[in-house]
Amino acid sequence: MKAVVFHGPRDVRVERVPDPVVEAPTDVIIKITTTSICGSDLHMYEGRTGLEPGRVLGHENLGEIVEIGGAVQQLRVGDRVSVPFNISCGYCRNCERGRTAYCITTNPGGTGAAFGFDGLGSYNGGQAEFLRVPHGDFNCLELPRERALKELDYVMCADVFATGYHATELAGVRPGESVVVFGAGPVGLMATYAAIIKGADRVMTVDRHSDRLRLVEEMGAFPIDDRKAPPTEQVLDLTDGEGADRGCECVGYQAHDPDGIEHPNTTMNNLIGSVKPTGRFGVVGLFVPRDPGAIDEIAKRGEMLFDFGAFWWKGQSMGTGQCNVKAYNRYLRDLIASDRARPSFVVSHELPLDDAEEAYRNFDAREHGWTKVVMHP
Ligand SMILES: NC(=O)c1ccc[n+]([C@@H]2O[C@H](COP(=O)([O-])OP(=O)(O)OC[C@H]3O[C@@H](n4cnc5c(N)ncnc54)[C@H](O)[C@@H]3O)[C@@H](O)[C@H]2O)c1
Ligand SMILES: [Zn+2]
Ligand SMILES: [Zn+2]
Repeated sequence: MKAVVFHGPRDVRVERVPDPVVEAPTDVIIKITTTSICGSDLHMYEGRTGLEPGRVLGHENLGEIVEIGGAVQQLRVGDRVSVPFNISCGYCRNCERGRTAYCITTNPGGTGAAFGFDGLGSYNGGQAEFLRVPHGDFNCLELPRERALKELDYVMCADVFATGYHATELAGVRPGESVVVFGAGPVGLMATYAAIIKGADRVMTVDRHSDRLRLVEEMGAFPIDDRKAPPTEQVLDLTDGEGADRGCECVGYQAHDPDGIEHPNTTMNNLIGSVKPTGRFGVVGLFVPRDPGAIDEIAKRGEMLFDFGAFWWKGQSMGTGQCNVKAYNRYLRDLIASDRARPSFVVSHELPLDDAEEAYRNFDAREHGWTKVVMHP
């Protein structure tokens, strides 16, 4: 089959690899019909992780079941499914409690597994014609049997719509509250959208790309351009000097200033400055325990200069980590089915899988207008 294979920093190639096969009786094989590129893929693409060459990328997958293992009970060949980026078993201590991003059994020696992801098991991803999904019954979410399936919306349930929602859950967003979101990439845009869906009063989203900030404005949120003035100042101005009730971090360890210089601590310290005393943050932007490609020794050790004194003094708190997609995707799917949510507004490019190399290049460069790429094999 054709697949997007990682070869090294900024080197992905569309090439032929063996088709996946059923390896365990609980596996299913899906024919991918839509798959997207995530900001998380870019950390790997840029060589800022330890991903080994040869792996197939892609963890935002939607497709049709073409083969099922002998122990699969709920699914049938022909079902259309959205597949969470997490690979989880459903029966371990963490899965039982809904923390499927921290499954104990699917990544031996670690916690949490994902498709085509460094450090989360050795599974291949779905930027390919076919994908093997372990524990198919648990990991596949069935999609409605509509004639014109809203594929571009449902594919967002595999990751970014769920992850944006997770940021607002970790932050504890409630109706009527104000929220500041750092990052207006697909995840930050979805956190903004989720906060609006939850009935937040004022949502303020920080970035410096005018195309992404325009989408913030179109949602009815406040775009904050950090090229114009420090974002904390702008948030304080919009909140009578008090700060936002809640904050979402949707940028991660490659946070940089508008000139492109990396400072992995900026968004975290800006959250402390722009969220009120006793406010809470949800940190879904990716941070790593070791970052050999970082700019200085502190960051190489996965550490940062965090304003802990100010954080403590303000009585703030936070939740962090990978999204437990299964905790939300069923409900987000239903919001889409009933036309109450349309997350595909972030999609800027719909391309054939054959164009993956160019798509990675443009999305990675945050070229104007390249907000989110979906591909069809
Ligand atoms: N926790 C999870 O489960 C999960 C899931 C998906 C993605 N992620 C992570 O979320 C992060 C965002 O993903 P994405 O797809 O939106 O990526 P992206 O790279 O497209 O978006 C990041 C945005 O942050 C902006 N940015 C950079 N520095 C900034 C700063 N100092 N202040 C404000 N904005 C800044 C960039 O301009 C860009 O628009 C990535 O780190 C990704 O790995 C985490
Ligand atoms: Zn992702
Ligand atoms: Zn598990």
